[in-house]
Amino acid sequence: MRIVVLGAAGQLGTEVVLHLEGLGHHEVIPLDRERCNVAVRDSVLGSLTSVRPDAVINCAAFTAVDACEAELGKAYVMNTLAVRHIAEACRAVEAHLVHLSTDYVFDGRKHDAYHEWDTTNPQSVYGRSKLAGEVEAQRLCPSGSVVRTSWVCGYHGANMVKTILRLAGEHKTLSFVDDQRGHPTFTADLAPALVRLAVERRPGLFHLTNDGDVSWYEFAEAVLEAGGMDPARVRPTTTGRLKPARPAPRPMNSVLDNAAWRFSGLPPLRNFREPLTELVTLLLADHD
Ligand SMILES: NC(=O)c1ccc[n+]([C@@H]2O[C@H](COP(=O)([O-])OP(=O)(O)OC[C@H]3O[C@@H](n4cnc5c(N)ncnc54)[C@H](OP(=O)(O)O)[C@@H]3O)[C@@H](O)[C@H]2O)c1
Repeated sequence: MRIVVLGAAGQLGTEVVLHLEGLGHHEVIPLDRERCNVAVRDSVLGSLTSVRPDAVINCAAFTAVDACEAELGKAYVMNTLAVRHIAEACRAVEAHLVHLSTDYVFDGRKHDAYHEWDTTNPQSVYGRSKLAGEVEAQRLCPSGSVVRTSWVCGYHGANMVKTILRLAGEHKTLSFVDDQRGHPTFTADLAPALVRLAVERRPGLFHLTNDGDVSWYEFAEAVLEAGGMDPARVRPTTTGRLKPARPAPRPMNSVLDNAAWRFSGLPPLRNFREPLTELVTLLLADHD
């Protein structure tokens, strides 16, 4: 298949491109912001109608959650209107669209895991703009895949694993909230699952995360453990005690049940501790 990856220079986009190249049997066209500015309709229509891909995996987004609160216009241009352009172009060339969304579409008040058919109620500009992007993708490309994921970490780009390791190198003790729970998800495992959706042209909404839910406090402990450090250096705190409070509210519970994926008979992604150990090993080796 000929597969375009949009946002190809981002954390997830880079991994998707590398995975596709590694498979060796697809024609991969990585498009970063310079080669295709997804915010500009002509750029998107021009790129996709000249390439005429079989599938498009859209990893481009405005992902700075707190910045979205102050930059509402940019959030909606990037996370919503851009998806309209991409979906319009995919429809024109009959490409299967795989579009990425987020756990932030939920308000976090549910007591157990959210499945794909739960009611959304985003509490932040980021979450609202991403939910509106889902609607654009589904309306213009009803046979495309929309994938909600959470707490994404990988070798390429900025993420919490790198932040926790940096803080562990700078401070004796670290403090993380114990009242926000979610599923850490690793690009090494997410990328192949996205490619599978593209290749099999599976329609509909999917939650896709690694297995195993934790609070940020428990996740920080797991990162230190994976790096051979003492997890007792991490201390629990609460969202209410964070100073200063973050501009964008986070869902307290953003645990995503991968129900549609599981009910489809597809293999669950690994427990997050496995890819976490692999990633931490790689990152620490880079520092040696
Ligand atoms: N990171 C997470 O924890 C997380 C959690 C849930 C869902 N997601 C979703 O997963 C997807 C991938 O996230 P990620 O972590 O890979 O984010 P990322 O590292 O921030 O990558 C986003 C990419 O989009 C590019 N981009 C921004 N504006 C663009 C434009 N106008 N035209 C073309 N490209 C543009 C960015 O380029 P620049 O660097 O040049 O701006 C960047 O390379 C997103 O849809 C995100 O909402 C992420």
